[in-house]
Amino acid sequence: MSEADPAVGIRCRSFAKINYYLDVLRRREDGFHQLETVFQTVSLCDELVCRASDAGVSLRVEGRAALSAGEDNLVMRAARALQRTTGTTAGAELSLAKSIPVAAGMAGGSGNAAAALRGLNRLWGLELSEGELETLAGELGSDVPYCLHGGLTAGTGRGEVLETLGEAATQWLVLAHPDVAVSTAEIFGHPALVKSGAELLGDGRSERFSEVIDACVAGRVDEGLFNALESAALVAYPVIAECKDALSAAGCSAVLMSGSGPTVFGMCASELEAREVASRIEGFRTTVVHTVDVGVELEELE
Ligand code: C5P
Repeated sequence: MSEADPAVGIRCRSFAKINYYLDVLRRREDGFHQLETVFQTVSLCDELVCRASDAGVSLRVEGRAALSAGEDNLVMRAARALQRTTGTTAGAELSLAKSIPVAAGMAGGSGNAAAALRGLNRLWGLELSEGELETLAGELGSDVPYCLHGGLTAGTGRGEVLETLGEAATQWLVLAHPDVAVSTAEIFGHPALVKSGAELLGDGRSERFSEVIDACVAGRVDEGLFNALESAALVAYPVIAECKDALSAAGCSAVLMSGSGPTVFGMCASELEAREVASRIEGFRTTVVHTVDVGVELEELE
């Protein structure tokens, strides 16, 4: 079967992301914030199964995830955006199984939207180009364009202007999940948020970001670990600081909150070390993961 032929069904896996670095430079006139960030996808993933249907588009959310399956779900919004752009009248039965915690700073919902864009583009034989998918992704959310691609990537603008930093060596990490749901908008709007106001140089990056990128490209991803959103999130949710302390006490040398939180990650030297660290943590749910080089993986179903 060629990519242009419509398929019967597609299984799409979308991977969670962390941020090794995230600086908030300033608030923009459109209300979004100017960022400098380094993204990385990790092996924790959700699964979206898309099956052809002649009864419109429907979505089912499996398991106990407290998540709407209505038109506000990013998967439905992605499907509607594809229908609007291409005029297709094709339908799909969509089934979403969540493993990535919701509202956790890991772009789970954005990844689901990216999976729907790639999966339905294939299922419906739409043949939208990468550029067209990226444009739709940017309209759905700041992290969705990154989630289409994954891997070690620098993000600027509101997070949607991307530059891949090449293939990174596999890194093992422990994710720890404080049991609170955090609204990204709340953290960006919090009065305690510290914005750097960093100046951009001729290449469109701050001096510090260029240094961080050089370190990442050289394989030293832990050198610049920083997240400006901690300034607000740790004030709003002190449990996040407790979670960071728990990961440090369990043996992680480098620990940081991901995105707008509350997920915290700790870097580990090996899978064995990561499993030992996770086994020492009490009071927080943990997931042992490794880095991956993709954002979405598709598999055709018979
Ligand atoms: O783009 P997305 O829908 O994920 O953003 C959610 C909210 O997070 C925005 O409405 C905005 O309040 C905030 N945000 C921001 N600056 C960014 C990204 C997100 O202020 N670069």
